[in-house]
Formats: sequence, structure tokens, C-alpha cells
Amino acid sequence: MHKLKAKGEKITCLTAYDASFALMIDQAGIDILLVGDSLGMVIQGHDSTLPVTVDDMIYHCQQVYRGSEQALLIVDMPFMSYATPRTALETAARLMGEGQAQMVKLEGGGWLAETVEMLTERGIPVCAHLGLTPQSIHQLGGYRVQGRTEIGAECLRNDAVALQSAGASLLILECVPGNLAAEITALLDIPVIGIGAGVECDGQVLVLYDLLGITPGKRPSFSKDFLQETGSIPAAIEAFISAVKNGTFPGPEQTFE
Ligand code: KIV
Repeated sequence: MHKLKAKGEKITCLTAYDASFALMIDQAGIDILLVGDSLGMVIQGHDSTLPVTVDDMIYHCQQVYRGSEQALLIVDMPFMSYATPRTALETAARLMGEGQAQMVKLEGGGWLAETVEMLTERGIPVCAHLGLTPQSIHQLGGYRVQGRTEIGAECLRNDAVALQSAGASLLILECVPGNLAAEITALLDIPVIGIGAGVECDGQVLVLYDLLGITPGKRPSFSKDFLQETGSIPAAIEAFISAVKNGTFPGPEQTFE
């Protein structure tokens, strides 16, 4: 992924939760498959990602692994499964060993630096996740844009640098104003993948069910229903990949100020 950032080629990422979709997305040429704990909401029907367990993540990761051929496979560490560095190491070992993931993702700021260091020193690549971090929804007080105040923006910049210095290989930035995301992307050497973070990030991720317009309830404003304009699932996935690669997604209508 670092090579793609260096070349200025946008990185594409979609969530997947089962082998059939994983194969279809992989064959369309996606760079990264993410087994997101969003599965708690779009697959299991919960109203947050908090009830998802490590066993759930392993179960879905195994399926996605069987369907994937070339994409990098990242798996989310679920709520409270990395509350201490020791717990994080045990969870990550299971997700990589049993789930066959190639990288783990965890949500949170500078407090995770020690954990990221511990995992990466032991050969476990880490993707950090900043901005709107759904596992902290009750602390954040709702699904809102993060980093809009100067203090909030400064915190995000510092957290991003701290996590990179601790050894994170990638950063996902969720629901952050486009100009702040652009600044953080330029500040970091590691690739920054945005979701609701504007077009200047090094790449984009979407929840597959948002892209297909089948997410229960209201679709997030930063996503786009690619199925509606293409008419078939493979074409919708290909349209997302092309739109990210040629810099036409996200547009201003999917970007926060
Ligand atoms: O769980 C998930 O699907 C995610 C993406 C929204 C980045 O974390």
C-alpha cells in the first residue's frame, strides 16, 4: 500500500463478511478487503458494533479469507478485545492464526501507541482508525463528524502521528472534515484511507451494504448507492473502484466541511 501512496495511486477498500462477496470484490481488483465489525449492524442487526465478539470476527474472517485471492485482508478487533496491550496481543494472535487475517484494525488515539508497538514488534501489522470511532459511540455521544474544533483537529493530528510512530502501517480516518483529512494525509508517510473524509485521502473505504443500498435504516450521507446507477452487483463494485481510482468519489456532496 505504501507503493501506491508513493505513486499517487488511490487505494480501494471495501468491507466483506462472507466468501461469495469476498471473491466478487477481489476479482473486481480491490486492494483491501476489510472484515469490519460493522457486521454487527449490517449482518447481525444490532444498533451498534458493541455486541460483536472475537469469535464472530474469526468466523467471518475465515469466510472472507476463503473467498479472497489477491487483496490484503484486514480484520477489525472488536469492542474491548484490545483494552490492554496483553489482551490485544491475545486477540490479534487469534484473528491472524484462526481467522487468517493479514492485518488487524483497532479504533482509538494515542492511548493505543503502546499496544500498536507491542503488536508490530511481534510481527502483527496494524491499521489504526481515528475520527468517528463507532466502538466509542456512547463516549462520542452520537455518529457525528469529528475534528471540527481547533482542539479536536489538533488531537487528531497528534494521534495520527503517535500511531504512525508506534508502527501502524495504515490509518483509517472516518467522518472528518475534508481539509483536515487532507492535512493529515500529507503529514503522514503511511497511507490514509478515508470514509467520509474527502477525496484527498490516499484511498477510500465503504461498507459494502451502503454501496449496494441495502443497509437497514438511513444510509450515511458520505456513502453512495452505486447499485442504483449500475444495475448489477459486480458493476456497482467496479464503479466504486474506478471512481476511487480516478478521484471522482467521494464528491463534494459526500464530503464534510
Ligand atoms: O467496521 C467497519 O466496517 C469499519 C469501516 C467503516 C471503516 O470500520
